[in-house]
Amino acid sequence: MKIDPWSSTTYQDYTRLRDEFGIQEFTDVFWKDLPHPHRLLRRGVIFGHRGFEIIHSAIKNKRPWAILTGLMPSGRMHLGHKMVIDEVMYYQSLGADIFIAVADIEAYATRGFSLEEARICALNEYISNYIALGLKPDRCHIYFQSEHQVVKDLAFLLGRKVNWSQMLATYGFTGSTNMSHIFSPLVQTGDILHVQLQKYGGVRPTLVPVGVDQDPHIRLSRDIAQAYRLFNVTVTKDNKIGVFVKIDENVDVLLDHAEKILHLLHFTDLKRISEYKALYVNDATEQDISMIDQQLAQTEPTFKGYGFLQPCSTYHRFITGLTGDKMSSSKPESAIFLTDMPKEAAKKIMQAKTGGAVSLEEQKRCGGKPDECMIYELFLYHLIEDDKELETIFQSCKQGTQMCGNCKKHAALLMEHFLVDLKEKREKAAERYNEYFK
Ligand code: TRP
Ligand code: SF4
Repeated sequence: MKIDPWSSTTYQDYTRLRDEFGIQEFTDVFWKDLPHPHRLLRRGVIFGHRGFEIIHSAIKNKRPWAILTGLMPSGRMHLGHKMVIDEVMYYQSLGADIFIAVADIEAYATRGFSLEEARICALNEYISNYIALGLKPDRCHIYFQSEHQVVKDLAFLLGRKVNWSQMLATYGFTGSTNMSHIFSPLVQTGDILHVQLQKYGGVRPTLVPVGVDQDPHIRLSRDIAQAYRLFNVTVTKDNKIGVFVKIDENVDVLLDHAEKILHLLHFTDLKRISEYKALYVNDATEQDISMIDQQLAQTEPTFKGYGFLQPCSTYHRFITGLTGDKMSSSKPESAIFLTDMPKEAAKKIMQAKTGGAVSLEEQKRCGGKPDECMIYELFLYHLIEDDKELETIFQSCKQGTQMCGNCKKHAALLMEHFLVDLKEKREKAAERYNEYFK
């Protein structure tokens, strides 16, 4: 199985996806002890991650970390797109530096948009809504891929560590895929890794919150980050912690340096074997690896390395469309767009598929199926913040005391309020673009 980031596949079996691609489960140990955990975390909408441990520990220890996400400006922004920005705003409240890439190069290369069309779409559909939703301009950088020389240069430079077979295996390109399209994943890697350059805050944990369709890009970026490291810290076959130099130049200088860092970290039982380009840390355990690795990474730029830490990711489930299949910009009746007229959105909700029974009588007797209901999903993902209130809806649906008609009206009303308020804020937001593009 392959994940194609440019197709419109729907995903159902997230557990299988997770296992097949080696994505880790996002259990409650990652969010239980965070300040006011966001509903998407609490409710299992975020189901998987790669490497979130280092983000968790950066938050807990109040160390710097960054978020990088991107938007594809090729259609209207709907509720499915809102999730990432909800997550981003939550993490911004926890102190992350925020970077948002407008993927106009990708829209140009893969969707046939002109850069100008992509720009207009990004501003009117996405950025204005982000600001209206509450994204704060402080410690937030929004940029267009096509205008970011550093990102584009990095894309080109990083490309040297990937070969054609890898690209083929990851993306399944064919002989007729155009070259700009083939190159666009490297631009995304440039997006993801540039935030760790000195100029943008330096080497630090970076989180990329995405839908699972973006996982191929995450794997590519993680592989490339690792390939550029000068040191590798790992458990050896005989269960020791080893620091290895990965390049062939300046090996001794680098080993000296690693020794110094390890001493600073209070490890004393070190054994150096220069022929293996190795330093064994006998008094370290597996739990120390990540800390040692991060310390070494941070100093790699002084030795002309990048020191990129592997970017971390979280994966959210996709919200189901109102019609029961995918929520998609190309099927207006399936989606609530953030720029929908409030009344129009309410009408779509009244016509949505539910998990209700075939007749009122049967629903009273057997209850409804909230797990298979688009209305319930709207409550769970977006409309209801209070967990107890959500639970009450769930229970009264199951027990057959709540009927779909009323339930839809409730959702429609909440949505209308939300959209009216958003529209007002969006109109104000347009005046504030300049604060964001800096
Ligand atoms: N490829 C993403 C999409 O289709 C957009 C994107 C560009 C992105 N650069 C990114 C997403 C960096 C996450 C991180 O939506
Ligand atoms: Fe969905 Fe509400 Fe009907 Fe239950 S009562 S199936 S939650 S619309």
